[in-house]
Amino acid sequence: MTKSIQSFPRRVAVLGSSGSIGRNALEVIAGSKGLLVPVLLSVHTQTDVLAEQIRQMALRGITAEMQTGKNVSAVLPRWLVVTGENADRDVLKGLPKDVEVLYGQEALCELVRRPEIDTVLSGIVGSAGLTSTWAAIEAGKTVALANKEALVMGGQLLTNLAKQTGGQLIPVDSEHSALMQALRSKTLADNTQDNIAQDAVERIILTASGGPFRTWTLEALRNVTVKDALKHPVWKMGRKITVDSATLMNKALEIIEARWLFDIPAKQIDIVIHPQSLIHSMVEFTDGSVIAQVSKPDMRLPIQTALTFPYRFPSPALKMDWTFTQTLDFYPPDLKRFPAIPLGWDVAERGGSAGAVVNAANETAVNAFLAERLPFDKIVSLCKTVLESHNYEPSPTLERLLQLDAWARTETEKVICGTT
Ligand SMILES: NC(=O)c1ccc[n+]([C@@H]2O[C@H](COP(=O)([O-])OP(=O)(O)OC[C@H]3O[C@@H](n4cnc5c(N)ncnc54)[C@H](OP(=O)(O)O)[C@@H]3O)[C@@H](O)[C@H]2O)c1
Repeated sequence: MTKSIQSFPRRVAVLGSSGSIGRNALEVIAGSKGLLVPVLLSVHTQTDVLAEQIRQMALRGITAEMQTGKNVSAVLPRWLVVTGENADRDVLKGLPKDVEVLYGQEALCELVRRPEIDTVLSGIVGSAGLTSTWAAIEAGKTVALANKEALVMGGQLLTNLAKQTGGQLIPVDSEHSALMQALRSKTLADNTQDNIAQDAVERIILTASGGPFRTWTLEALRNVTVKDALKHPVWKMGRKITVDSATLMNKALEIIEARWLFDIPAKQIDIVIHPQSLIHSMVEFTDGSVIAQVSKPDMRLPIQTALTFPYRFPSPALKMDWTFTQTLDFYPPDLKRFPAIPLGWDVAERGGSAGAVVNAANETAVNAFLAERLPFDKIVSLCKTVLESHNYEPSPTLERLLQLDAWARTETEKVICGTT
């Protein structure tokens, strides 16, 4: 089912508005001159951030009203959803009466299906983002997908579901946004003849900054502290993805994400370390041409690209400065120091239940590392151990994936506590 191109203004639900992706998305929406309208925001626990976001929007609305005579309520979201049970609800008292506050994951999954929403920005971190992403795709929505874990867990199911419902998955990850754009060069014809263009892709090349430990020895990697791991050299992101970037598990998750998003076999996905993070990924075609997307590392650009897809508009993102000498370095990843990458290829090739198990093991291991209960260099090996100990299932349902997620968390905890 092919979806017709959405018109503007687009009504956007921002899931995870208190996070790094969510905050950047709100900046993009605020700068969109009305092309993008926020209709729903969700947070898990940070209701104080949510309340402040509403105050800021109201303030901008009042300014706009003074300048243009526009109605203030038109720029405020209609719904706020708080999914965390223990979140402080009191800070949300006294919001404008047109803004309705709802609670719980079920309410979120219900609302993202509503006809008043065109595009869902899936910016929740971890497996917690799967069910709302699923609900949006099931309802045939366009999903601007930052929550890569949803595709890692259920890539095969989600992409099949999108084909049935006409839902669209547009990547927000900068690498996949770059690939989506480069892949549109499969043919130079104005009208794509897909049967001819299909085979033109030789491989896709995901770039990786290499993270904070790019040059560290195996010995040094044994003594990484939480503080070390949370210092990413290029990107400012949430804690989980920052640790994933340090182990290069983030690149493993991106291999799996690319495998499902672009329906490309794992063996055609390569990784190259590119510390400057200016080239966000590349596609090599069978004729030898390589098409890359280049821009400053600034998530506001791929977020906007996804929200306004397939159109381009001026964006608040930082622009390239070509007035001074710059160098681009590329080199192959060290698979011995960073075993997450071969693990990513392996899981992408296996499909089925492998992604859900590795993802849950990784989330549990990262939490244990952040709580100083697990050494940094054990995160990836633990994921591998749990993956190998599960009974592989080639075609799990969504329900089964969620069960496997719970099973893998318990298994990982057992290994961490030494109770297996
Ligand atoms: N940050 C980046 O630059 C970047 C780039 C590419 C892809 N991504 C992907 O985007 C996603 C978000 O990353 P992030 O860096 O923005 O993370 P983050 O800063 O930690 O924000 C996570 C968001 O998810 C919400 N959340 C946490 N647990 C939840 C749960 N159980 N149920 C519902 N909502 C929950 C948080 O709410 P509270 O704040 O209220 O807890 C917050 O709004 C991740 O999948 C990440 O891999 C991020």
